[in-house]
Amino acid sequence: MHTDLLITHATQLLTMDGGLGLVADGAVACHDGRIVAVGPTADVLAQVDSAAEALDARGHVVLPGFVDAHTHVVYAGDRVAEFEMRLRGATYLDIMAAGGGIMSTVRATRAASDDELLAATRTRLDRMLSLGTTTVEAKTGYGLDGETERRMLRVIEELNRSHAIELVPTYLGAHAVPAEYIGRADDYTDFIVDDLGKLAAEGQPIEFVDVFCDAGAFTVEQSAAILTRARALGYRIKIHADEFAHLGGAALAARLGAISADHLAVTPAEDRAALAEAGVVAVVLPGTSFGLGHAHYADARALIDAGATVALATDLNPGTCVCESMPFMVALACRYTGMTPGEAVIAATRNAAAAVGRERENGSLTVGKVADILLLDVADYRWLAYGFGDNPVVRVIKRGTVVR
Ligand code: NIG
Ligand code: FE
Repeated sequence: MHTDLLITHATQLLTMDGGLGLVADGAVACHDGRIVAVGPTADVLAQVDSAAEALDARGHVVLPGFVDAHTHVVYAGDRVAEFEMRLRGATYLDIMAAGGGIMSTVRATRAASDDELLAATRTRLDRMLSLGTTTVEAKTGYGLDGETERRMLRVIEELNRSHAIELVPTYLGAHAVPAEYIGRADDYTDFIVDDLGKLAAEGQPIEFVDVFCDAGAFTVEQSAAILTRARALGYRIKIHADEFAHLGGAALAARLGAISADHLAVTPAEDRAALAEAGVVAVVLPGTSFGLGHAHYADARALIDAGATVALATDLNPGTCVCESMPFMVALACRYTGMTPGEAVIAATRNAAAAVGRERENGSLTVGKVADILLLDVADYRWLAYGFGDNPVVRVIKRGTVVR
């Protein structure tokens, strides 16, 4: 057969097909943006007659592109001054209660023009692509009013059209109670429940609806009202649960059949079991614990041992994790959440694809899937966990095209 792109002789090829799917001297062939052959180089070469472009991957690891399953990549401004306040002893929740935190990014995002918001986000996506991320879940949640939330959705849609990275849009109107509603969180909850119906009627590009269920944000009851409405409108649902306080958000995710529950830094054993039982993907975000300077990391080991599907993501946002690097998340996950390097790489690819409903398209190198492929400058995949602070990704292929 004729192919567009042929990668041969990877020292290690990780297909993620049933576990890591490690193939020594592996090859993968792509055509029309999809994988058409994969396996030992000799087997692939037996099927491929010609290739428009060929890459020799000797000395390299080849694996699927990273799926960053939880990001707040669209925002304006920064919170570098708050970061110094935190270093001097203020907590994230103190700053949030004083009107800073998420609300300071909301003010900056409302004030930014569409072009500014697009340009700032595009720069971050460029870095993510260089670091091997080929699919990004992108949340709203720095508008917190009808108009700015819709602008954020438009920015996500525009970048999905114009950037190599595929973006998956999540509506997070319930990210914080905005200043206009201080002391009236139930009224803001009612506003979101109502606006969800309008967003659906307008045909807004939304795949998931998410809620920040935590101390200082939304209660379990408010979260349940929003997520139940979202589900009735046909959206799949996600929840930020147990980042700071154990309110019961993970149990709610299990009860409502959420696609994922994210953070889970303070989730108890019975809720871990409930997530596993309900098939809710547990998204752990070690960059956030690191960014906050916390010793408190999600217990991915216990989640995996309970039978849960565990995914990794950056949580990229201006407050708690100013980091675009999935390789760094792998390194953190292995040191602080109890994952092995193999589990962490699966969590960053295949399981992350499941967390954003892309398990049939992305996350593994199997025939028929989208050809999102990375080459690393190392010959053993465990270097992804072992080394940190540098970018091990030397080539990025998105939909069969070499983009980096
Ligand atoms: O996941 N938890 C809520 N959202 C982010 C923080 C966003 C922000 O501080 O701007 C998080 O940590
Ligand atoms: Fe988040």
